[in-house]
Amino acid sequence: MAYRVIQWATGNVGKLAIEAVEAHRDLELVGVWVHSAEKAGQPFGGVTATSDIDAILALNADCVVYTPLLGQTEEVARILRSEKNVVTPVGWFYPKNTAGIAELEAACREGGVTLHGTGIHPGGITERFPLTLSALCTNIRHVRAEEFSDIRNYQAEAVVRDIMLFGKPPDEAAHSPMLEILGSGFGQSVRMVADALELTIEPELRTSHEMAVATKDLDTPVGLVPAGTVAAQRFTWQATVDGEPRITARVNWLMGEDLDPPWKLGGERFEVSFDADPPLHVVFHGLHPEVVGDDLDRNRGLLATANHVVNSIPYVCDAEPGVKTYLDLPLIAGRAIP
Ligand SMILES: NC(=O)c1ccc[n+]([C@@H]2O[C@H](COP(=O)([O-])OP(=O)(O)OC[C@H]3O[C@@H](n4cnc5c(N)ncnc54)[C@H](OP(=O)(O)O)[C@@H]3O)[C@@H](O)[C@H]2O)c1
Repeated sequence: MAYRVIQWATGNVGKLAIEAVEAHRDLELVGVWVHSAEKAGQPFGGVTATSDIDAILALNADCVVYTPLLGQTEEVARILRSEKNVVTPVGWFYPKNTAGIAELEAACREGGVTLHGTGIHPGGITERFPLTLSALCTNIRHVRAEEFSDIRNYQAEAVVRDIMLFGKPPDEAAHSPMLEILGSGFGQSVRMVADALELTIEPELRTSHEMAVATKDLDTPVGLVPAGTVAAQRFTWQATVDGEPRITARVNWLMGEDLDPPWKLGGERFEVSFDADPPLHVVFHGLHPEVVGDDLDRNRGLLATANHVVNSIPYVCDAEPGVKTYLDLPLIAGRAIP
């Protein structure tokens, strides 16, 4: 019997998650919740969307794929109490000791269900895959997981300009909220890796935010980025022992290579590297478009995010109640075409 699935919000990831549910032999889409009033009543993947939370929670369903802009603890707790499992890329990758976790654990037990945070970065490249690869190594001295992306592939103007602060003067972008917004997720990844490797790290993570400016006016999918304004940013989260970095998660977002300082992207990719015995270096290709600017409305990184979330559903539905991470769940696999 198929697991009955509700899609919660139909942005980039939500729409791709609907595709993934429909392509999965063990899953059936039974409901869609939308935030925007104008989308209510429209068909999505064969079901009619609603913006009525009571109506969607009254549905008989096994799992909610929760992909709104920002996760809200009280809303997730309500879904869990309605006896629906929740899988999501918005957070809760390794949420021990984080705010609201007791409420979510209680809601899981009340509903007899599970909450699982998963995705790609964080939720894949920064902890699930490094930990899998770590089994090939001994004497692990340093683990690094790093994204190299051309941010011109990300078409969300409001996010890229107003939240990420691309195209702003460096002194304004220096106050970026991104280190903190992203850090809640990447910080959990770094701590998960440390705990699984049984490494006792210093309580505070070391963080940094570096920037490069455009050396000429750049014409981008989110509009003009004038010369002298921020056109590349690098965010780093590191776990240290005795001041030495032992685990590093890093994001490099560039708008091309006309930059000062002269940062180079060297091709879009994700990397996972071990300074260990043996020294291991894994590069993920295929999670970016072959040519910058292609497939903007079907971004491959977001596709992988949606797939990772949706493919976890059968395992999450079968898990014991509670907040569950990769350290608790069995190996999650995709499905072959029949
Ligand atoms: N972990 C990872 O690897 C990973 C990767 C990518 C994205 N993400 C996260 O996944 C989430 C979704 O990303 P996305 O690219 O799909 O974003 P998006 O395209 O901006 O879509 C978000 C959707 O949220 C709904 N929404 C907007 N404002 C809202 C509000 N005030 N309250 C509740 N819902 C609201 C809208 O749904 P309707 O259109 O249905 O009205 C909107 O389409 C984000 O939190 C993002 O950070 C995580």
